[in-house]
This record gives sequence, structure tokens and C-alpha cells, in this order.
Amino acid sequence: MFVKQATQTARENTWDKKVSPFPAFDQLKSSRSTYQQKSPDTNAQPSKLDKIIVRGGQELNGVIPISGAKNAALKLMCAALLTDEPVYFENAPNMLRDIQSQTDLMTHLGCHIRRERDLMAINAGPVHSQTAPYDLVRKMRTSILVLGPLLARFGQAKVSLPGGCAIGTRPVDLHLKALEELGAQIKLENGYIDAKTPQGGLQGAKILFPKVSVGATENLLMAATLAKGTTVLANAAKEPEIVDLGECLIKMGAKITGLGTETITIEGVPELKGTTHSILPDRIEAGTYIIAAGMTGGTLKLQNARIEHLSAAMGLLSQAGIEVEQSDQDIIVHREIGRILGVDIMTEPYPGFPTDLQAQFMAMLSLCQGAGMITETIFENRFMHVPELCRMGADITVQGNSAIVRGVESLKGAEVMATDLRASVALVLAGLVAEGETTINRIYHLERGYEDIVGKLSACGADIRKA
Ligand code: EPZ
Repeated sequence: MFVKQATQTARENTWDKKVSPFPAFDQLKSSRSTYQQKSPDTNAQPSKLDKIIVRGGQELNGVIPISGAKNAALKLMCAALLTDEPVYFENAPNMLRDIQSQTDLMTHLGCHIRRERDLMAINAGPVHSQTAPYDLVRKMRTSILVLGPLLARFGQAKVSLPGGCAIGTRPVDLHLKALEELGAQIKLENGYIDAKTPQGGLQGAKILFPKVSVGATENLLMAATLAKGTTVLANAAKEPEIVDLGECLIKMGAKITGLGTETITIEGVPELKGTTHSILPDRIEAGTYIIAAGMTGGTLKLQNARIEHLSAAMGLLSQAGIEVEQSDQDIIVHREIGRILGVDIMTEPYPGFPTDLQAQFMAMLSLCQGAGMITETIFENRFMHVPELCRMGADITVQGNSAIVRGVESLKGAEVMATDLRASVALVLAGLVAEGETTINRIYHLERGYEDIVGKLSACGADIRKA
């Protein structure tokens, strides 16, 4: 209610400098009792310290607040480009490096963005550029998701090709082909995607994705909200983060059905409006801490986390001997000291076992009774954590896209190198149970996707610090 009134005021003043671009921000702030208890102040910049040192052997017991989902927040920020009215987010993981990177890009385009603790407000009314430059896109591939919204609202966009990363080549061919089916004219020149819409803007179409892609589904979902006519996305991804994005778009006035299924239908509308949206909890962060407790033993309460978004992983964790339950808004995980049982996992698109928990699960299996096989079907190079785990004494053999993990009695602390976000956190988990001290270098990978992991773990008894 206050967003609507405040938006009207802001619009009437059409960027009069004296009018705040976020008239509802202070009301939102004061209207939330838990506001002050949220994660540390986001104005604290990510640390300049580049290492984490952890001494293994401590049980984890205590409470960990789960942050808003990184892989929802980054796309929700892109969705704000679809309207010239302010969009407000609660439960935003503002401390993450990736959120800062996305903020830098959208500020470059002309957006006003305000972040305080777990509140974020974006006003894309003053957007004056539709060019996402290489030096900003290369820092974070998800920047490609400004393409669909910019095309839909402005009829043009020039976005640097994101390039690959440690876990794979990460092409964007599915995004581009599908946008062309909506009528976009796309040229690839000098490492940039140069896209324009025909005179009448994007036109709805039936799109069949040849393979399931989270990002392509999200780019097309956003673009189709302002296309003329009906768009059907067949073989769409079903991740909870996509459902969360779609629910926010519906609150902005989009007409969408089929979210969470393999067929999503979007009726285009002339424009979208501002809204307030609370970002769903980060299921991968929650899964990471569930596995941590499974490895160290102890009892953890994960505040504001939803077990139903991790059903495939929960089944496998139960087979491995880790019991997890939902208690109101929280997840409780308890583990008596003892050997984890070996299980086999295969990563799959949602609702299958998430590839983003593969490295963490492997760290846990390295101490299992027996052995387990891990098959990675989503990315072609997502075993970068294997050599580092082996340096800590793990017994892992990679054959193609499968890894055989033979359980060992214990791991030994070592100096190891982080390579990508989830491989880095797998090394932290291994360090929590290894004998002696483990030093993890290049922790900026970690800070891209885990808010205050050192603070959250040390509050539950881990001997862990930055250096
Ligand atoms: C999202 O990446 C997530 N990132 C990834 O999480 C996650 O691992 C992945 O989905 C799968 O669940 C964000 O949401 C920011 P895809 P995305 O398009 O959208 C190929 C993390 O650790 N493909 O579903 O890039 C692609 O190479 C990150 O938080 C094409 O071939 O994943 C991959 O093999 C890592 N052409 C497969 O599809 C395309 O045009 C799935 O990729 C697009 C993708």
C-alpha cells in the first residue's frame, strides 16, 4: 500500500532532485521488527583479507541465520529494469560480492540503488544506457540477465559476452536463440551481443529449449512479460529461484502461469509497476551448513530456511545418516559423531540433486564408511575441488564426469587454493574436520556467495578466522 502511494508521488515529481527515488524505504525499514537483528551491516566492505584459517575437530552447535538466495536476488535485480517505478526487496544478501558486482553494473546503466542491512531498493526510472561493458560483465556472468529486460523495455541492448569460468565454457546460445524467436535481431561483434527489437517490440512466441537452462529460462521469462502476445517456454527450468522471480514479476503486473513446471506461459502487458518482494532463503547456503553439521557432529538450527527446496538432497543425506527436520520457519539438523555412510549421487536440474551442492557432498563423502560415486551432469569441469581435497588426504578418482570417493579415516590440514565458489566452501568444510590447521587461499570466491561464513561458523563453535 505505501509503495503505491509513494510511487505515485515519485512519478509526479519525475526525478525532481529533492524527491527521494525511494519514498517507501524508511517506512519499510521501520515496519519490520526483526530489521535490527539481521546480518551484519552491509556497509562493511568485503574484507581485504584473502585467507581463511580453520582448525579442525570442533562440533557445530548453535543457530545460523540463512540469507536471501544469491541465485534469486541477482535476477530479481535485473527484473527491476522492466519498470520505471521503485522496486523494494527484503531479505537481500547485500554483503555478497556478486550483489556488489550487479549493483555496479546497474548503477552504470543509470539505476538508483539503495542497500541497508537486508533491504534493497532499485529505481530503474533514470536508466540512460543499455550497454553492459566487458569490465563489469566479466566479474560476474549473471550480468547476461540484463539482456532480456533491457530489450523488452528499451528495444535495444549491448551486452558483453560473459565468457567462461572455472567450471565450464558457460555458453549463452540458448538465451540468444530464444530471444531471436521473440523477434530480437542479434549480432555478435567484438565480443559483444548487439541486440535490437523490430519496430513493434518483442513478439510472443512458442519456445522449446533443447536443454534445461536456468539462466535462459529467466532471461526469456523477463523479456516475455512486455512482449506483444503470448509466449510459451517449453522444457523450462523449475528451480525455486525461478518461481520466486516469477512471483515478483506477477506482483509487478506480469501475467504468468506454470511457474515451477516445465511449461511456463506469459501474456505480455504494456508496462510493469513497482512492488515490494521478500527474497526466498538460500537453499544452497542451507544445504552447505546441513552438510557441515553432518561432518562435524552437533546440532544446528538454520533460521528461515525451507527443507522442501532441498528434497533430493535430503533423501541422500538421510541415506548417509544425517537427519534433518523442518521446525516452523527453521531447519534443524542433528548428527551424532560416527561415520557417514557412502551414497551415490548424480546432479540433475531441479528437483534433482543440485550441482551447487556437489562439491560440499564430496567433502563429506571423503570421510564416509565405504565409498560413494558422484556424477556431474550439468557442468563439464566441476571437479576442481578434487585435487585440493586429495592434498588433505582424501582418496578420490575422477573418470570422465564421475568421481569415485573412497572414505578415509581422517583428513589432514593443509594449505589449499579456492578455485570457484562451491569448491571453496567444500575446502572450508574439509578444514572443519581435518586434523590440524587448513589455510584456504583466494577467499574472494567464497565471499561471492556466502554472507559472513566465518562469523556464522565461529558463532557455532568452529575454530575459524580470516587472515
Ligand atoms: C545457474 O547458472 C546458477 N547460477 C548456477 O549456480 C547453477 O549451478 C546453474 O544455474 C544450474 O543449476 C545463477 O543462478 C547465478 P544453466 P546458469 O543455464 O543459469 C549449459 C553457483 O554456484 N548452457 O542452467 O548459468 C551450461 O553450460 C552457480 O551459485 C548452454 O549450453 O546455468 C550448463 O552446462 C554456479 N547454453 C547447463 O546448460 C546456454 O545458453 C546448465 O546451465 C545456457 C546454458
